[in-house]
Amino acid sequence: MNKKLWGGRFKKKPDTDFFKFQKSINYDYKLAQYDVLHSLIHIDVLKKAGILNKTETNKLIKALNEVDEEIKQEINKKKFKAFKNSEDIHTEIQNRVEKKVGLVAYKLHTLRSRNDQIVFDEKYYCLEKSLDIRELLLNLRETLVKLVKHHKGQKIIGYTHTQRAQVVLFQEYIFAFNHMFAKDYERLQKFSENLQIYIGAGALIGFFSKKAYNEAADKVIGKLEWKYKPLVNSLHNVSDRDFIIELLSILSILQMHLSRMAEDFILYSTKEFNFLDLPEEFCTGSSLLPHKKNPDFLELVRGNTGRIYGNLVSILTIMKGLPLTYNRDMQLDKEPLFSSVEIIEEELKIMARFIKGIDLKIESIDNALKDKTLYATKLVKWFVMKQKISFKKAHNIVGKLTMLAEEKKGDFAKIPSEKLKGLHPKLDEDIINKIMRPK
Ligand code: ARG
Repeated sequence: MNKKLWGGRFKKKPDTDFFKFQKSINYDYKLAQYDVLHSLIHIDVLKKAGILNKTETNKLIKALNEVDEEIKQEINKKKFKAFKNSEDIHTEIQNRVEKKVGLVAYKLHTLRSRNDQIVFDEKYYCLEKSLDIRELLLNLRETLVKLVKHHKGQKIIGYTHTQRAQVVLFQEYIFAFNHMFAKDYERLQKFSENLQIYIGAGALIGFFSKKAYNEAADKVIGKLEWKYKPLVNSLHNVSDRDFIIELLSILSILQMHLSRMAEDFILYSTKEFNFLDLPEEFCTGSSLLPHKKNPDFLELVRGNTGRIYGNLVSILTIMKGLPLTYNRDMQLDKEPLFSSVEIIEEELKIMARFIKGIDLKIESIDNALKDKTLYATKLVKWFVMKQKISFKKAHNIVGKLTMLAEEKKGDFAKIPSEKLKGLHPKLDEDIINKIMRPK
């Protein structure tokens, strides 16, 4: 118990600081349940190979299930504590099993490698998390739908270049985000469908037949639960972290969507725009300025984009130029992976509740919708359809009209009628008032 999984060929003990430095247990404990699964499959292979008898097999299965439960509970209670010499979750589980069943535990690791375990564990983690995140995305999309139902038919200003462009329906605006999240959902779905979780690669090439592992995996996990494919190339399996890069790419795109939505909501809640009232429960005040209600949640979402992109770049860089097959550098993939997954999960959870609390400032929006320039394109269309002039000409006339209005500080009513006639004989104040207004 409390041992390392290696050491026979060493004369000296590891340097204390180095031993601490190379540990991954502080974060890879999150993979415990998947590592237990790997062990259960491996045990079945060992039994078939005659390495474990029935009693030993049963003892190990029982111990592993208990360890699984114990660790789950400890994690839930935030009380997980590993043995001092457990450098990673694989060693920790081995040590815990050994504590329960004694020497039989020595057989558990027969001809397998942590290189195979870790990639199995991480793929399983990615599979489950991609499913969880899809659920959260569905929930977020539902809250967006509810939000627009409350404000059916409401119009708002649509922007390009952050300049007033045209009037749009609030629901169309919100559904733009909904479409982004639908695409994120699809990407995650394809990711999980393509994910191939293998087992049996050993350190780089396994010792037991693919068939034995496949049968064991089917038996332990069941065909339906696992996007399982027979191992094709074991060297690739232990070298591969593409699936993490892929998941983090998808999460980076999703994060960018959250960040853009956050940015819009921040802008629209300012007094300058004054279109949105943000839920107070997700805002904070200022220690100095008593009047402030700051959109901290949205700002933190926007800011997290730096971390999520950073995590992706971190793994891309760790993997760059690594010789085949496994290298210890790859241990460093876990913190960025967990970090991105956990940030996204939190954000999606809170964002759904945040959106429930958003209110539109209808009076202020309707007032802003009176801005005549928002209907400039409608006037162009009127010239094209009713006066039968070319779009280019009409565009030019309305451009000039806008210039004249700007000279009058935006007041179209102050433009002298002969100037209007100068632009087009049919252009007068009545037409402007009829066309350039909200319907
Ligand atoms: N902690 C290691 C990792 O995360 C597990 C695999 C270790 N393999 C080894 N040969 N040291 O990558």
